[in-house]
Amino acid sequence: MKRVCILGSTGSIGVNSLKVIKQFEGEMEVVALSCYQNITKLAEQVEKYRPQQVAIVDSSKISAFKARCRVPVEVLSGVDGLVEIVKNPDINTIITAVVGAAGLLPTIRGIQESKNIAIANKETLVIAGELVMQEARRHGVSLLPVDSEHSAIHQCLHHRQPDEIQKLILTASGGPFRTLPATDFEKITVEDALNHPTWNMGAKITIDSATLMNKGLEVIEAHWLFGVDVDRVEVLVHPQSIIHSMVEFVDGSIMAQLGSPDMKLPIQYALTYPYHRAPASITTDFVQLGQLTFEAPDMDRFPCLRLAYEAARAGGTFPAVLNAANEIAVNAFLNRQIRFIEIPQLIETTMKAHQNHAHPTLAEILHADQWARDFTQQTI
Ligand SMILES: NC(=O)c1ccc[n+]([C@@H]2O[C@H](COP(=O)([O-])OP(=O)(O)OC[C@H]3O[C@@H](n4cnc5c(N)ncnc54)[C@H](OP(=O)(O)O)[C@@H]3O)[C@@H](O)[C@H]2O)c1
Repeated sequence: MKRVCILGSTGSIGVNSLKVIKQFEGEMEVVALSCYQNITKLAEQVEKYRPQQVAIVDSSKISAFKARCRVPVEVLSGVDGLVEIVKNPDINTIITAVVGAAGLLPTIRGIQESKNIAIANKETLVIAGELVMQEARRHGVSLLPVDSEHSAIHQCLHHRQPDEIQKLILTASGGPFRTLPATDFEKITVEDALNHPTWNMGAKITIDSATLMNKGLEVIEAHWLFGVDVDRVEVLVHPQSIIHSMVEFVDGSIMAQLGSPDMKLPIQYALTYPYHRAPASITTDFVQLGQLTFEAPDMDRFPCLRLAYEAARAGGTFPAVLNAANEIAVNAFLNRQIRFIEIPQLIETTMKAHQNHAHPTLAEILHADQWARDFTQQTI
């Protein structure tokens, strides 16, 4: 029986996870849910899935939630509530579907409590990959990827040895500005950037996909999850998003995992691993697709990808700084305080001002994260 806690159940991954769990009644059950402030959706989910506990991070929403929710449920609050909820002994699996650095502490706590982790919150591995992987090994916990690219690589690598791998090839749709000339980037609006061609996702990851920062974060995520050097993680633009990623082996053989783009598939595989189980959430019609195409990523028009590689090569606290500066810049763009082209400029300015700490402790990572947030905010 999978007894599941979904951190961030009201978001795009959270809602899709609940749909998957519903299809496996009797084998999977919802024990705990959480949101930041969307108590209307959380109350609907509680009435439908009957968890024991919920965590609401924005404590000011607790009384409104209690007034709205018509079934009994224990309510935890604040950032501490999100960390506390994963300790529930009835939980054996956690889906980390919160957005941003907020996922770090509850994920580490979940690992320390020996819960299996289905990891969607890539920022956790970007910020503290070395530490998180060490903790996972120490507690014998598997981190099962939910990101479609990492799920694809995980499937291609099944029972392979590290010395068989030549490189990982992460595919990228290219986002809404794949063919936009550099001279038009100045005019990009929030609405343009939120209009992703193939995936329907939360606002932050949709902007990250438009800047290609999402792919940069995924390069760092793949480096930690699969123990492959950053420079052997390659990005390949593939606009149809049918090939979710590939592994090239040392003999030149390449394996890929394919399917129509729908996050229910990698979520389901993370929950049914190591088996592929019915029902199918997707169908793929190759005749109708006609062709699959590929391009190199353009790091001049999309400097966020270059910055992510630079942060990954530098290591230490640099990836945490990259991530924090990006979170602040994306938020400012969504609030119409800065232009699209200023997102990478802000991140680069913050990275240039940062003094690295190699092999940082959790406290040093949290300090670097806060420093980068303050510095980027002041620059804005
Ligand atoms: N969406 C995808 O297809 C996709 C694919 C691969 C990986 N991912 C990764 O999965 C994660 C979630 O993405 P998403 O698209 O599902 O995001 P989303 O739709 O924006 O949902 C985010 C969830 O996190 C909660 N949340 C927001 N800020 C929080 C905070 N400070 N503390 C605690 N909870 C907070 C939200 O609660 P409220 O609803 O109350 O705001 C919501 O439940 C991200 O790390 C993303 O990179 C997403």
